[in-house]
Amino acid sequence: MLQTQDLMVPHDQSRPSVAAVTIVVPCYNERENVARMVAALDRALPGIAWEAIFVDDDSADQTAEEVRRIAQSDFRVRCIRRIGRRGLASAVIEGVLSSSAASVVVIDGDMQHDPARIPDLLRALDAGADIAVGSRHVQGGDAAGLDGVWRRRVSRAGIGVATRLMGVALTDPMSGYFAMRRELFDRLAPRLSGQGFKILLDLLLSAPTALRVAEIPLRFQPRLAGESKLDALVMAQFIGVLIEKASYGVIPPRFAAFAAVGAVGVLVHYTVLVAGRASGLPFEADQTAATIVAMAFNFWLNNTLTYRTNRLRGVPLVRGLAVFIVVCGLGAVANIGIANTLYRAHSGWTPSGILGAIVGVVWNYAVSATLVWRMR
Ligand code: GDD
Ligand code: MN
Repeated sequence: MLQTQDLMVPHDQSRPSVAAVTIVVPCYNERENVARMVAALDRALPGIAWEAIFVDDDSADQTAEEVRRIAQSDFRVRCIRRIGRRGLASAVIEGVLSSSAASVVVIDGDMQHDPARIPDLLRALDAGADIAVGSRHVQGGDAAGLDGVWRRRVSRAGIGVATRLMGVALTDPMSGYFAMRRELFDRLAPRLSGQGFKILLDLLLSAPTALRVAEIPLRFQPRLAGESKLDALVMAQFIGVLIEKASYGVIPPRFAAFAAVGAVGVLVHYTVLVAGRASGLPFEADQTAATIVAMAFNFWLNNTLTYRTNRLRGVPLVRGLAVFIVVCGLGAVANIGIANTLYRAHSGWTPSGILGAIVGVVWNYAVSATLVWRMR
């Protein structure tokens, strides 16, 4: 009879069974860069027990297949394929949490970060840093690879906000290239927002006490293949993360977006109302039409912006719209009820109206997040 032992490969005790350092590589449509990355890691880390975890969000260009093809002949390479998910920060978090190594390095998968700098980052950790960052803005680094005047302006503005408003003492808090001990990451992980692109800033702002940060000069390389995924929506998410951190986690990033969409909805409502008055529609019919149009508009905008990573399509879209209208209808009833009660208790119409509206938007957000977009 075949014994279990017969199937086991004898373990070589002289070799480490766990990597000393995990390189976490977020990637989305980076098929052409995977082999380049593995080869560059091999060159950059001689004599170091490393492993690479590529975290792919089900790229259409078959990035995951390419990683697994390379993994067939290189056990140091692994792939996490996430389905129905998007996001650089959350990809990094899941990659790091899957590591059992003592140290982790996070690096872009498009070769804009030079893997040859990894030993410098690891040395900085050994010298006592909590986080070692590849920085484009210290002496010897540069951001030349950042294409476009606008990208550079936005990048500088973001750094300005982070350093002045949030008190982060770092020349490049937006860097996507850094090393840290996994144990520290594990401690901070439950506090992370995980939204958007700025995982390093998220980590720094989530630490209960200031972290010792070392900066290593980095020359940001131009992209060789593929294209950047950072767009206006990603930047809007960044504002949401800042609001979340500034409110000590009370205001979730999505709530800010949801409330902004709601404010636009008020304008839509008003515009329809004015048009209806001009065309001589009875007021009740006009107000009803304006309410329905504003709700449908809010639903559409939330579906494309606020919940774009969970975007509904097809039948779930129709179902979602129906649930959204019911939820917001109940929200309106709560809003009016609370405002009326306060008003009758002589609270004045301004505070009564504002409090009613706040209760309405909080209700709409909380309930539609779970029932319509099924967020956990
Ligand atoms: N898994 C996953 N999911 N990976 C992603 C996603 C995503 O939704 N979006 C982007 N990536 C991967 C890309 O494939 C690439 O390997 C890396 O994350 C960086 O994305 P880019 O789209 O190339 O970003 P960039 O070059 O414009 O921005 C870089 O510079 C910024 C500062 O200017 C990044 O390093 C950012 O982290 C950095 O903040
Ligand atoms: Mn890039």
